Amino acid sequence: MSESASLIEKVEELKLDDDFVDPWNVTSSSDAGVDYDKLIERFGSSKVDAELLARFEKVAGQPVHHLIRRGIFFSHRDLNAILDMVEQGKKFYLYTGRGPSSESLHLGHLVPFIVTKWLQEVFDVPLVIQLTDDEKTLWKDLTVEQSMKLARENAKDIIAMGFDVNKTFIFSDLDFMGKCPAMYQNVIRIAKRVTFNQVRGIFGFGDMDPIGKIGFPPVQAAPSFSTTFPFIFGGKTVRCLIPCAIDQDPYFRMTRDVAPRIKLPKPALLHSKFFPALQGAKTKMSASDTNSAIFLTDTAKEIKTKINKHAFSGGQVTLEDQRRLGANTDIDVSYQLLRFFLPDDEQLENIRVAYSKGEMLSGEIKKLAIETLQPIVAEHQEQRKLVTEEVLDQFMSIRKLNF
Ligand code: TRP
Repeated sequence: MSESASLIEKVEELKLDDDFVDPWNVTSSSDAGVDYDKLIERFGSSKVDAELLARFEKVAGQPVHHLIRRGIFFSHRDLNAILDMVEQGKKFYLYTGRGPSSESLHLGHLVPFIVTKWLQEVFDVPLVIQLTDDEKTLWKDLTVEQSMKLARENAKDIIAMGFDVNKTFIFSDLDFMGKCPAMYQNVIRIAKRVTFNQVRGIFGFGDMDPIGKIGFPPVQAAPSFSTTFPFIFGGKTVRCLIPCAIDQDPYFRMTRDVAPRIKLPKPALLHSKFFPALQGAKTKMSASDTNSAIFLTDTAKEIKTKINKHAFSGGQVTLEDQRRLGANTDIDVSYQLLRFFLPDDEQLENIRVAYSKGEMLSGEIKKLAIETLQPIVAEHQEQRKLVTEEVLDQFMSIRKLNF
């Protein structure tokens, strides 16, 4: 059975259960969040296990990034094949993206980009970043003009993370597609091979949805193929690795299903878990709910207030109980924030032990989370100021990359 055909049954199953995951919605009935092992089983991906981590480390020649090491990037497809290529001295390329639906990014949005940047630096490979302003125009209450403006604003935040302009191409669908016949040609090659029945099964489209939504998935699929970017790859077939949050997997299951039928290699994937909302891991951090998110535009004071006021605590209600019983770090959002953003393993482990035993209190771990995030956000704001319209135009111009 093809990957997408088996998925159709899986989606139906998914809706009946406690967790719901699709590219637009993530909810779980558990305070600890989505059951990720179950998700791997249902999506048919593979676990990033100890053996793969060890191999990854060996091939990379350095410790893997803490987001990978700590199991935040927990699932993959064909990552071993990418490591084989590296060992054979062959290049792959990276592809990731962002749907520009809000002016400002939040911390959760950074996660795939942090690991993408690490992979780019370690393996010295080209990177393409898709801004799906077309997707957001179709799904949200945004005009074409508004989405295109948001795409440029979001691109500045992405650039501020320090990507190398010589190796990185950023494009907005609404702008780039008309300039690059090769992309549209691949979109049509893909669209020809996916039926309405399949996308309805994969994405849950209904009769009253605008037809643009039905046509969109091939647009997100096309950058998985190097022939979409002849100015970078000169028409050569180069294999692709996509770091993304697991909710984007449906697009790429579809892509992998089509790939052999258009005689192109399937993209490999590295999937992350969701970044929890401040209110707890039942939902993911969302830009449309201001209190759930720490934005990259937040001031130090706002970060402090938000965490103190909203960060769900896994600690006990009374001081006495906390000292006696300790906290549950699995559901404690401040601890989870530290897992994402505090790179020092030893320090993190000390915090975990102290807080679980009740030696540390909820207010204390909140303070640590605040003090960890404030400088990260402040530094981002400094870097973003340096991203001028000219720098942005450079990243978004159609050109050769050096790698
Ligand atoms: N659909 C994604 C979003 O809404 C954006 C996106 C486009 C993407 N291409 C991607 C994300 C590739 C990850 C990998 O955010």
